[in-house]
Amino acid sequence: MSLREVIRSRVSTSKFASQWVNPQHLIDLLDVAVYAPNHKMRQPWRFIILEGEGKDGWVSAYLQTIKESDREDHKSVLMKVMSAPAVVIFVMKKNPILVDDLEDLQASAAVIQNFLLLLEEEKMGSFWKTPKYMESDKFKESLHIQSDELIVALVMVGYPALKMEPKLRKSARELTTIL
Ligand SMILES: Cc1cc2nc3c(=O)[nH]c(=O)nc-3n(C[C@H](O)[C@H](O)[C@H](O)COP(=O)(O)O)c2cc1C
Repeated sequence: MSLREVIRSRVSTSKFASQWVNPQHLIDLLDVAVYAPNHKMRQPWRFIILEGEGKDGWVSAYLQTIKESDREDHKSVLMKVMSAPAVVIFVMKKNPILVDDLEDLQASAAVIQNFLLLLEEEKMGSFWKTPKYMESDKFKESLHIQSDELIVALVMVGYPALKMEPKLRKSARELTTIL
């Protein structure tokens, strides 16, 4: 597939097959994805991969930190993401200078898109998620996220159970001014 075809065919995968995803392979792809532009080569990112027994163990341990009366509701929301064979958590070091922080967020988003496209090239599926709970102290503590770090996104990864058609976009022709 050409890069153009990869970009055009990527979709958010809503249903994953149960097939195992090799975390070492995801690291190989992340090692390519990090060739994203980033200002002053700050490379503000790190990654956490949840998969297999490690993911299941983490889910159980994390849910124990949730008040019992809220646990079932929280579990059903959490499992919308954690049901994927693997979940890659993109973590960014916060920058105390606002302009730099925004740049670092943009660079982190570029890494995420690179990663999604690399997965698409291999006919793997992904879903970029930013659920509200990822900002909670309990969630961050359970993943050992430091106070100077931000969770940028949770990316669900696996093999798609069905191939979806891309959603049409507004034409850039209608959105572009040439001066
Ligand atoms: C920054 C960002 C955050 C997103 N967060 C969510 C989310 O929390 N939940 C969700 O269902 N989709 C989320 N999405 C995915 C979008 O809904 C999806 O990309 C959009 O509908 C276009 O569909 P496509 O990915 O199939 O092209 C997010 C996408 C981006 C770029």
